[in-house]
Amino acid sequence: MQAQINPLPIAGAEGRHFWDYEGKRYLDFSSQLVNLNLGHQHPALVAAIVEQAQTLCTIAPSLANDKRSELASLLAELTPGNLKMSFFTNGGAEANENAIKLARWYTGRHKIIARYRSYHGATAGAVTLTGDPRRWPAEPGLPGVVHMLDPYTYRCPAGHPEPCPVCSGGPHLEEILQYEGPHTVAAVILETVTGTNGVIVPPDGYLRSVREVCDRHGILLILDEVMVGFGRTGRWFACDHWDVTPDIMTVAKGINSGYVPLGAMIVSEPIAEWLHDKYLAGGLTYSGHPLACAAGVASIGVFREEKVVENAAAMGEVLAAELPKLAARHASVGDVRGLGLFWGLELVRDRATREPLVPFHATGEANTPMARLSKAAMARGLFLMTHFNMVMICPPLTITRAELDEGLAMLDEVLAVADEYIDQP
Ligand SMILES: Cc1ncc(COP(=O)(O)O)c(C=O)c1O
Repeated sequence: MQAQINPLPIAGAEGRHFWDYEGKRYLDFSSQLVNLNLGHQHPALVAAIVEQAQTLCTIAPSLANDKRSELASLLAELTPGNLKMSFFTNGGAEANENAIKLARWYTGRHKIIARYRSYHGATAGAVTLTGDPRRWPAEPGLPGVVHMLDPYTYRCPAGHPEPCPVCSGGPHLEEILQYEGPHTVAAVILETVTGTNGVIVPPDGYLRSVREVCDRHGILLILDEVMVGFGRTGRWFACDHWDVTPDIMTVAKGINSGYVPLGAMIVSEPIAEWLHDKYLAGGLTYSGHPLACAAGVASIGVFREEKVVENAAAMGEVLAAELPKLAARHASVGDVRGLGLFWGLELVRDRATREPLVPFHATGEANTPMARLSKAAMARGLFLMTHFNMVMICPPLTITRAELDEGLAMLDEVLAVADEYIDQP
Protein backbone atom coordinates (compact mmCIF):
# COMPACT_ATOMS: atom_id res chain seq x y z
CA MET A 1 0.00 0.00 0.00
CA GLN A 2 2.60 2.58 1.03
CA ALA A 3 4.54 1.84 -2.13
CA GLN A 4 1.47 2.49 -4.27
CA ILE A 5 0.84 5.99 -2.94
CA ASN A 6 1.17 8.53 -5.71
CA PRO A 7 -0.73 11.65 -4.71
CA LEU A 8 -1.93 14.09 -7.33
CA PRO A 9 -0.29 17.49 -6.72
CA ILE A 10 -2.96 20.17 -6.38
CA ALA A 11 -2.31 23.72 -7.53
CA GLY A 12 -5.40 25.52 -6.25
CA ALA A 13 -9.07 25.37 -5.37
CA GLU A 14 -12.20 27.46 -5.14
CA GLY A 15 -15.72 26.63 -4.00
CA ARG A 16 -16.58 23.06 -4.94
CA HIS A 17 -13.63 22.58 -7.31
CA PHE A 18 -9.89 22.09 -7.13
CA TRP A 19 -7.37 21.79 -9.97
CA ASP A 20 -4.00 20.23 -10.69
CA TYR A 21 -0.88 21.79 -12.26
CA GLU A 22 -2.12 20.92 -15.75
CA GLY A 23 -5.24 22.96 -15.07
CA LYS A 24 -7.53 19.92 -14.94
CA ARG A 25 -10.49 20.68 -12.67
CA TYR A 26 -12.12 18.26 -10.24
CA LEU A 27 -15.56 18.57 -8.69
CA ASP A 28 -15.18 17.76 -5.00
CA PHE A 29 -17.95 15.26 -4.24
CA SER A 30 -16.37 14.21 -0.94
CA SER A 31 -15.53 17.58 0.69
CA GLN A 32 -11.96 16.22 0.90
CA LEU A 33 -12.26 13.94 3.97
CA VAL A 34 -15.84 15.07 4.61
CA ASN A 35 -14.53 18.17 6.32
CA LEU A 36 -14.82 20.95 3.78
CA ASN A 37 -18.41 21.94 4.57
CA LEU A 38 -18.02 25.49 3.25
CA GLY A 39 -16.01 24.52 0.19
CA HIS A 40 -12.54 25.61 -0.80
CA GLN A 41 -11.07 29.05 -0.08
CA HIS A 42 -14.22 30.67 1.31
CA PRO A 43 -13.23 34.37 1.41
CA ALA A 44 -14.78 35.01 4.85
CA LEU A 45 -12.76 32.18 6.42
CA VAL A 46 -9.55 33.18 4.67
CA ALA A 47 -10.03 36.81 5.81
CA ALA A 48 -10.71 35.74 9.41
CA ILE A 49 -7.52 33.65 9.50
CA VAL A 50 -5.45 36.47 7.98
CA GLU A 51 -6.88 39.02 10.42
CA GLN A 52 -6.25 36.74 13.40
CA ALA A 53 -2.71 36.00 12.19
CA GLN A 54 -2.03 39.73 12.05
CA THR A 55 -3.42 40.20 15.57
CA LEU A 56 -2.35 37.15 17.58
CA CYS A 57 -1.19 33.91 16.01
CA THR A 58 -1.05 31.80 19.15
CA ILE A 59 -1.44 31.99 22.90
CA ALA A 60 -1.21 29.41 25.70
CA PRO A 61 -4.40 27.58 26.69
CA SER A 62 -4.06 28.99 30.21
CA LEU A 63 -4.58 32.53 28.90
CA ALA A 64 -7.84 33.84 27.47
CA ASN A 65 -8.51 34.73 23.88
CA ASP A 66 -11.58 36.43 22.42
CA LYS A 67 -12.09 34.04 19.47
CA ARG A 68 -11.74 31.00 21.72
CA SER A 69 -14.39 32.34 24.10
CA GLU A 70 -16.66 33.44 21.27
CA LEU A 71 -16.52 30.02 19.63
CA ALA A 72 -17.26 28.25 22.93
CA SER A 73 -20.34 30.49 23.41
CA LEU A 74 -21.50 29.82 19.86
CA LEU A 75 -21.17 26.06 20.35
CA ALA A 76 -23.20 26.23 23.56
CA GLU A 77 -25.86 28.12 21.63
CA LEU A 78 -25.97 25.85 18.56
CA THR A 79 -25.64 22.39 20.11
CA PRO A 80 -28.83 20.79 21.43
CA GLY A 81 -30.17 20.56 24.98
CA ASN A 82 -27.87 21.22 27.89
CA LEU A 83 -24.54 20.86 26.06
CA LYS A 84 -22.75 23.85 27.49
CA MET A 85 -18.98 23.72 27.83
CA SER A 86 -16.27 23.00 25.28
CA PHE A 87 -12.73 21.73 25.47
CA PHE A 88 -10.90 22.45 22.22
CA THR A 89 -8.59 19.94 20.57
CA ASN A 90 -6.66 19.69 17.32
CA GLY A 91 -9.11 17.27 15.71
CA GLY A 92 -11.67 14.52 16.13
CA ALA A 93 -9.50 11.75 17.57
CA GLU A 94 -8.30 13.96 20.43
CA ALA A 95 -11.87 15.03 21.15
CA ASN A 96 -12.83 11.36 21.48
CA GLU A 97 -9.76 10.62 23.64
CA ASN A 98 -10.82 13.34 26.03
CA ALA A 99 -14.44 12.17 25.97
CA ILE A 100 -13.55 8.64 27.09
CA LYS A 101 -11.06 9.92 29.65
CA LEU A 102 -13.68 12.24 31.11
CA ALA A 103 -16.46 9.60 31.02
CA ARG A 104 -14.28 7.20 33.02
CA TRP A 105 -13.31 9.87 35.54
CA TYR A 106 -16.88 11.17 35.94
CA THR A 107 -18.53 7.75 36.38
CA GLY A 108 -15.68 5.95 38.17
CA ARG A 109 -16.23 3.06 35.73
CA HIS A 110 -13.85 1.84 33.06
CA LYS A 111 -15.63 0.10 30.17
CA ILE A 112 -16.64 1.84 26.96
CA ILE A 113 -19.10 0.32 24.49
CA ALA A 114 -18.56 1.24 20.84
CA ARG A 115 -19.82 -0.30 17.57
CA TYR A 116 -18.10 -2.52 15.04
CA ARG A 117 -19.01 -0.31 12.09
CA SER A 118 -17.33 2.80 13.41
CA TYR A 119 -14.37 5.06 13.00
CA HIS A 120 -13.39 7.35 15.86
CA GLY A 121 -9.83 8.38 14.98
CA ALA A 122 -6.28 7.09 14.77
CA THR A 123 -4.82 7.79 18.22
CA ALA A 124 -4.39 4.87 20.63
CA GLY A 125 -7.71 5.15 22.50
CA ALA A 126 -9.81 6.33 19.56
CA VAL A 127 -8.54 3.56 17.30
CA THR A 128 -9.44 0.98 19.96
CA LEU A 129 -13.01 2.32 19.91
CA THR A 130 -12.95 2.07 16.12
CA GLY A 131 -14.55 -1.14 14.96
CA ASP A 132 -13.08 -1.33 11.48
CA PRO A 133 -9.82 -3.08 10.52
CA ARG A 134 -7.78 0.07 11.08
CA ARG A 135 -7.90 -1.08 14.73
CA TRP A 136 -6.10 -4.37 14.11
CA PRO A 137 -2.46 -3.19 13.84
CA ALA A 138 -2.86 -1.11 17.02
CA GLU A 139 -4.03 -4.02 19.17
CA PRO A 140 -3.96 -4.72 22.03
CA GLY A 141 -5.32 -1.24 22.55
CA LEU A 142 -7.12 0.45 25.41
CA PRO A 143 -8.44 -2.11 27.94
CA GLY A 144 -12.19 -2.19 28.58
CA VAL A 145 -13.53 -1.43 25.10
CA VAL A 146 -16.46 -3.66 24.08
CA HIS A 147 -18.02 -3.63 20.62
CA MET A 148 -21.68 -4.01 19.77
CA LEU A 149 -23.45 -4.60 16.45
CA ASP A 150 -24.84 -1.88 14.24
CA PRO A 151 -28.34 -0.94 13.06
CA TYR A 152 -27.28 -1.94 9.55
CA THR A 153 -30.71 -2.83 8.22
CA TYR A 154 -29.41 -3.77 4.73
CA ARG A 155 -27.22 -6.50 6.22
CA CYS A 156 -28.80 -6.96 9.62
CA PRO A 157 -26.78 -9.47 11.65
CA ALA A 158 -29.99 -10.56 13.42
CA GLY A 159 -31.85 -11.21 10.14
CA HIS A 160 -33.92 -8.10 10.85
CA PRO A 161 -37.04 -9.61 12.45
CA GLU A 162 -39.84 -7.23 13.40
CA PRO A 163 -39.11 -5.76 15.93
CA CYS A 164 -35.36 -6.14 15.46
CA PRO A 165 -33.34 -6.33 18.70
CA VAL A 166 -30.19 -4.95 17.04
CA CYS A 167 -31.68 -2.26 14.79
CA SER A 168 -33.95 -0.92 17.51
CA GLY A 169 -30.88 -0.34 19.72
CA GLY A 170 -31.96 -0.87 23.32
CA PRO A 171 -32.48 -4.67 23.44
CA HIS A 172 -29.05 -5.45 21.94
CA LEU A 173 -27.34 -2.98 24.26
CA GLU A 174 -29.22 -4.38 27.27
CA GLU A 175 -28.02 -7.88 26.42
CA ILE A 176 -24.40 -6.73 26.19
CA LEU A 177 -24.75 -4.90 29.50
CA GLN A 178 -26.12 -8.04 31.11
CA TYR A 179 -22.87 -9.86 30.25
CA GLU A 180 -20.51 -6.92 30.89
CA GLY A 181 -22.13 -5.61 34.09
CA PRO A 182 -23.74 -2.19 33.63
CA HIS A 183 -22.00 -0.88 36.77
CA THR A 184 -18.65 -1.32 34.97
CA VAL A 185 -19.64 0.69 31.88
CA ALA A 186 -18.76 4.39 31.76
CA ALA A 187 -20.09 5.27 28.30
CA VAL A 188 -21.55 4.22 25.01
CA ILE A 189 -19.97 6.02 22.06
CA LEU A 190 -21.67 6.15 18.66
CA GLU A 191 -21.27 8.00 15.42
CA THR A 192 -24.77 9.51 15.23
CA VAL A 193 -24.86 8.45 11.58
CA THR A 194 -22.04 6.02 10.80
CA GLY A 195 -19.76 7.57 8.20
CA THR A 196 -16.88 5.81 6.51
CA ASN A 197 -18.05 2.36 7.56
CA GLY A 198 -21.22 2.44 5.50
CA VAL A 199 -23.26 5.65 5.87
CA ILE A 200 -25.61 3.85 8.26
CA VAL A 201 -28.54 6.04 9.24
CA PRO A 202 -30.07 4.74 12.49
CA PRO A 203 -33.75 3.79 12.19
CA ASP A 204 -36.16 6.18 13.92
CA GLY A 205 -36.28 5.34 17.61
CA TYR A 206 -32.79 3.79 17.72
CA LEU A 207 -30.96 6.68 19.39
CA ARG A 208 -33.76 7.35 21.84
CA SER A 209 -33.78 3.68 22.81
CA VAL A 210 -30.00 3.67 23.40
CA ARG A 211 -30.32 6.93 25.35
CA GLU A 212 -32.99 5.37 27.62
CA VAL A 213 -30.86 2.29 28.33
CA CYS A 214 -27.87 4.50 29.14
CA ASP A 215 -29.99 6.62 31.50
CA ARG A 216 -31.38 3.55 33.25
CA HIS A 217 -27.85 2.39 34.11
CA GLY A 218 -26.10 5.72 34.74
CA ILE A 219 -24.02 5.30 31.57
CA LEU A 220 -22.98 8.38 29.58
CA LEU A 221 -23.90 8.68 25.91
CA ILE A 222 -21.14 10.13 23.74
CA LEU A 223 -22.14 11.09 20.21
CA ASP A 224 -19.30 11.44 17.73
CA GLU A 225 -20.48 14.16 15.33
CA VAL A 226 -17.02 14.69 13.85
CA MET A 227 -18.22 13.82 10.35
CA VAL A 228 -21.94 14.55 10.57
CA GLY A 229 -21.96 17.74 12.64
CA PHE A 230 -22.24 21.27 11.25
CA GLY A 231 -24.98 20.84 8.70
CA ARG A 232 -23.79 17.70 6.94
CA THR A 233 -27.11 15.89 7.35
CA GLY A 234 -29.31 18.93 6.72
CA ARG A 235 -29.58 19.88 10.41
CA TRP A 236 -26.97 21.61 12.54
CA PHE A 237 -26.18 18.29 14.23
CA ALA A 238 -27.31 14.83 13.15
CA CYS A 239 -28.82 14.10 16.58
CA ASP A 240 -31.23 17.01 15.99
CA HIS A 241 -33.11 14.70 13.58
CA TRP A 242 -34.18 12.52 16.50
CA ASP A 243 -34.20 15.08 19.36
CA VAL A 244 -31.63 13.13 21.35
CA THR A 245 -28.98 15.01 23.34
CA PRO A 246 -25.81 13.19 24.36
CA ASP A 247 -23.93 13.81 27.61
CA ILE A 248 -20.83 14.53 25.55
CA MET A 249 -20.63 15.47 21.87
CA THR A 250 -17.42 15.43 19.90
CA VAL A 251 -16.94 17.57 16.79
CA ALA A 252 -14.15 18.56 14.37
CA LYS A 253 -14.01 18.72 10.53
CA GLY A 254 -17.03 20.95 9.65
CA ILE A 255 -16.46 23.13 12.73
CA ASN A 256 -14.25 25.33 10.52
CA SER A 257 -14.05 23.21 7.35
CA GLY A 258 -10.56 22.13 8.37
CA TYR A 259 -8.95 25.39 7.24
CA VAL A 260 -6.94 25.19 10.50
CA PRO A 261 -7.05 21.90 12.50
CA LEU A 262 -9.69 22.04 15.25
CA GLY A 263 -11.93 19.75 17.25
CA ALA A 264 -13.98 20.04 20.42
CA MET A 265 -15.46 17.97 23.20
CA ILE A 266 -18.68 19.60 24.34
CA VAL A 267 -20.11 18.48 27.68
CA SER A 268 -23.52 18.75 29.32
CA GLU A 269 -24.26 21.16 32.15
CA PRO A 270 -24.09 18.53 34.96
CA ILE A 271 -20.66 17.41 33.76
CA ALA A 272 -19.54 21.03 33.39
CA GLU A 273 -20.68 21.74 36.97
CA TRP A 274 -18.96 18.60 38.27
CA LEU A 275 -15.76 19.75 36.57
CA HIS A 276 -16.02 23.19 38.14
CA ASP A 277 -13.73 22.48 41.09
CA LYS A 278 -11.52 19.96 39.29
CA TYR A 279 -8.47 20.16 37.09
CA LEU A 280 -9.19 18.77 33.60
CA ALA A 281 -5.87 17.37 32.44
CA GLY A 282 -6.56 18.09 28.79
CA GLY A 283 -2.93 18.92 28.26
CA LEU A 284 -2.82 20.20 24.69
CA THR A 285 -0.37 22.98 23.81
CA TYR A 286 -2.66 24.14 21.00
CA SER A 287 -6.04 23.81 22.73
CA GLY A 288 -8.22 26.65 21.51
CA HIS A 289 -5.71 27.81 18.93
CA PRO A 290 -6.64 31.39 17.97
CA LEU A 291 -6.28 30.82 14.20
CA ALA A 292 -8.50 27.73 14.34
CA CYS A 293 -11.07 29.38 16.60
CA ALA A 294 -11.18 32.53 14.45
CA ALA A 295 -11.94 30.29 11.46
CA GLY A 296 -14.63 28.54 13.54
CA VAL A 297 -16.33 31.81 14.51
CA ALA A 298 -16.22 33.03 10.90
CA SER A 299 -17.56 29.69 9.67
CA ILE A 300 -20.62 29.84 11.93
CA GLY A 301 -21.21 33.40 10.66
CA VAL A 302 -21.16 32.13 7.06
CA PHE A 303 -23.49 29.24 7.94
CA ARG A 304 -25.99 31.77 9.26
CA GLU A 305 -25.61 34.44 6.57
CA GLU A 306 -25.59 32.08 3.60
CA LYS A 307 -28.19 29.68 5.03
CA VAL A 308 -25.81 26.78 4.58
CA VAL A 309 -27.77 24.24 6.66
CA GLU A 310 -30.89 25.11 4.67
CA ASN A 311 -28.99 24.59 1.40
CA ALA A 312 -27.71 21.21 2.63
CA ALA A 313 -31.28 20.16 3.42
CA ALA A 314 -32.59 21.39 0.04
CA MET A 315 -29.77 19.80 -1.97
CA GLY A 316 -30.24 16.67 0.16
CA GLU A 317 -33.79 16.46 -1.17
CA VAL A 318 -32.34 16.51 -4.68
CA LEU A 319 -30.02 13.60 -3.83
CA ALA A 320 -32.90 11.72 -2.17
CA ALA A 321 -34.82 11.99 -5.44
CA GLU A 322 -31.98 11.53 -7.94
CA LEU A 323 -29.85 8.78 -6.39
CA PRO A 324 -32.58 6.10 -6.53
CA LYS A 325 -33.02 6.97 -10.24
CA LEU A 326 -29.29 6.50 -10.73
CA ALA A 327 -29.48 3.20 -8.86
CA ALA A 328 -32.29 2.04 -11.13
CA ARG A 329 -29.95 2.44 -14.11
CA HIS A 330 -27.08 0.49 -12.49
CA ALA A 331 -27.49 -3.09 -11.33
CA SER A 332 -24.31 -2.75 -9.24
CA VAL A 333 -26.06 -0.41 -6.79
CA GLY A 334 -27.51 -2.60 -4.06
CA ASP A 335 -28.58 0.09 -1.62
CA VAL A 336 -28.86 3.88 -1.50
CA ARG A 337 -28.98 5.54 1.90
CA GLY A 338 -28.27 8.87 3.52
CA LEU A 339 -29.49 12.16 4.89
CA GLY A 340 -28.88 15.74 3.79
CA LEU A 341 -25.59 15.87 1.88
CA PHE A 342 -24.32 12.62 3.38
CA TRP A 343 -25.11 9.65 1.12
CA GLY A 344 -23.68 6.28 0.29
CA LEU A 345 -24.17 3.84 -2.55
CA GLU A 346 -23.50 0.26 -1.52
CA LEU A 347 -22.19 -1.65 -4.53
CA VAL A 348 -22.90 -5.36 -5.04
CA ARG A 349 -22.25 -8.12 -7.58
CA ASP A 350 -25.78 -9.41 -7.25
CA ARG A 351 -28.77 -7.50 -5.92
CA ALA A 352 -30.55 -10.68 -4.87
CA THR A 353 -27.73 -12.19 -2.79
CA ARG A 354 -26.29 -8.75 -1.86
CA GLU A 355 -22.76 -10.10 -2.38
CA PRO A 356 -20.54 -7.04 -2.00
CA LEU A 357 -18.76 -5.77 -5.12
CA VAL A 358 -15.47 -6.29 -3.26
CA PRO A 359 -14.98 -8.37 -0.10
CA PHE A 360 -14.87 -6.69 3.32
CA HIS A 361 -11.51 -4.95 3.78
CA ALA A 362 -10.37 -5.90 0.26
CA THR A 363 -6.91 -4.73 -0.76
CA GLY A 364 -4.71 -5.17 -3.85
CA GLU A 365 -6.13 -7.40 -6.60
CA ALA A 366 -9.38 -8.05 -4.70
CA ASN A 367 -10.11 -4.31 -4.62
CA THR A 368 -9.70 -3.84 -8.39
CA PRO A 369 -13.36 -2.91 -9.11
CA MET A 370 -13.34 -0.09 -6.55
CA ALA A 371 -9.87 1.09 -7.56
CA ARG A 372 -10.97 1.22 -11.22
CA LEU A 373 -14.10 3.11 -10.26
CA SER A 374 -12.15 5.78 -8.32
CA LYS A 375 -9.72 6.12 -11.23
CA ALA A 376 -12.57 6.49 -13.73
CA ALA A 377 -14.08 9.24 -11.56
CA MET A 378 -10.79 11.15 -11.40
CA ALA A 379 -10.35 10.81 -15.14
CA ARG A 380 -13.74 12.51 -15.62
CA GLY A 381 -12.94 15.22 -13.06
CA LEU A 382 -14.98 13.86 -10.13
CA PHE A 383 -13.34 13.49 -6.72
CA LEU A 384 -15.13 10.67 -4.90
CA MET A 385 -14.60 9.02 -1.54
CA THR A 386 -14.83 5.23 -1.54
CA HIS A 387 -14.45 2.74 1.31
CA PHE A 388 -14.79 -1.03 0.98
CA ASN A 389 -17.78 -1.45 -1.40
CA MET A 390 -19.23 2.01 -0.65
CA VAL A 391 -19.19 5.17 -2.72
CA MET A 392 -19.83 8.22 -0.57
CA ILE A 393 -21.55 11.32 -1.89
CA CYS A 394 -20.84 14.20 0.45
CA PRO A 395 -20.05 17.43 -1.42
CA PRO A 396 -19.51 20.81 0.26
CA LEU A 397 -22.76 22.09 1.76
CA THR A 398 -22.56 25.19 -0.43
CA ILE A 399 -22.99 23.14 -3.60
CA THR A 400 -25.43 24.46 -6.23
CA ARG A 401 -28.07 22.45 -8.07
CA ALA A 402 -26.12 22.81 -11.34
CA GLU A 403 -22.95 21.41 -9.72
CA LEU A 404 -24.88 18.58 -8.14
CA ASP A 405 -26.34 17.67 -11.54
CA GLU A 406 -22.89 17.87 -13.12
CA GLY A 407 -21.50 15.47 -10.48
CA LEU A 408 -24.43 13.06 -10.76
CA ALA A 409 -23.99 12.91 -14.54
CA MET A 410 -20.31 11.98 -14.09
CA LEU A 411 -21.23 9.45 -11.40
CA ASP A 412 -23.73 7.89 -13.79
CA GLU A 413 -20.92 7.28 -16.30
CA VAL A 414 -18.50 6.04 -13.65
CA LEU A 415 -20.91 3.43 -12.27
CA ALA A 416 -20.70 1.63 -15.61
CA VAL A 417 -17.31 0.36 -14.35
CA ALA A 418 -19.00 -1.34 -11.36
CA ASP A 419 -21.73 -2.78 -13.61
CA GLU A 420 -19.04 -4.74 -15.51
CA TYR A 421 -18.65 -6.97 -12.44
CA ILE A 422 -22.30 -7.92 -12.07
CA ASP A 423 -22.84 -11.68 -11.85
CA GLN A 424 -25.09 -12.21 -14.84
CA PRO A 425 -27.25 -15.36 -14.96
C1 LIG B 1 -16.65 9.91 12.84
C2 LIG B 1 -15.21 10.30 12.98
N1 LIG B 1 -14.70 10.46 14.22
C3 LIG B 1 -13.42 10.82 14.39
C4 LIG B 1 -12.58 11.02 13.34
C5 LIG B 1 -11.16 11.44 13.58
O1 LIG B 1 -11.01 12.79 13.33
P1 LIG B 1 -9.55 13.40 13.06
O2 LIG B 1 -9.07 12.82 11.79
O3 LIG B 1 -9.79 14.87 13.01
O4 LIG B 1 -8.71 13.01 14.23
C6 LIG B 1 -13.07 10.89 12.03
C7 LIG B 1 -12.19 11.10 10.88
O5 LIG B 1 -12.48 10.78 9.76
C8 LIG B 1 -14.42 10.50 11.86
O6 LIG B 1 -14.93 10.33 10.63
